[in-house]
Amino acid sequence: MITIRALQSSDRADLVKILNDTDMFIKAEIDVALELIDTALNKPNQTDYIIRVAVDNSQVMGYVCFGPTPATAGTYDLYWIAVAPHVQGKGIGKELLNHVETEVHARCGYLIVIETSSREKYLPTRNFYLKNGYTVAAQIKDFYRPGDDRVIFVKYFKEENK
Ligand SMILES: CC(C)(COP(=O)(O)OP(=O)(O)OC[C@H]1O[C@@H](n2cnc3c(N)ncnc32)[C@H](O)[C@@H]1OP(=O)(O)O)[C@@H](O)C(=O)NCCC(=O)NCCS
Repeated sequence: MITIRALQSSDRADLVKILNDTDMFIKAEIDVALELIDTALNKPNQTDYIIRVAVDNSQVMGYVCFGPTPATAGTYDLYWIAVAPHVQGKGIGKELLNHVETEVHARCGYLIVIETSSREKYLPTRNFYLKNGYTVAAQIKDFYRPGDDRVIFVKYFKEENK
């Protein structure tokens, strides 16, 4: 059974492996992902980056990094989500996303924003967000590089949090 828990320093090596194994991220992206992981590990009092890890039988299967968007009333960015390739498509990503939504709701957030690439390689990822109730709010042409747009997904939550 999958459990979702807070990040621990012993998870770092597993997360490095997952980020590399997905074969979806270039080195610069992995460096940024690790920077956020290290910030969360080394600055226990920071509140910008919240990281949760999906664990099955004490094996790390995936993780998610999200946090409040600075200077907004209740908007959260989902910065990173990754599941180990050998267990993708089994619902772990959905559990991580559901967990983020529950936490955001509990923190009185009302909007989650996720940015991803328009490249063909990211089609399963975009389908994953669509299947989980996210909609495309905007697409910025050639944002990452010519031919690679930034696709911005959003999901709004209950009125009571606004
Ligand atoms: C996107 C990702 C986090 C989804 O996690 P997951 O555990 O595979 O997703 P789930 O099992 O909950 O959902 C599977 C659905 O997502 C989609 N999907 C995305 N990647 C998939 C994969 N490699 N294998 C199967 N389904 C995949 C499918 O549409 C699938 O729908 P289905 O269940 O109707 O077939 C994961 O595939 C992943 O780590 N991908 C590579 C890294 C990445 O793209 N991260 C996001 C960067 S913006």
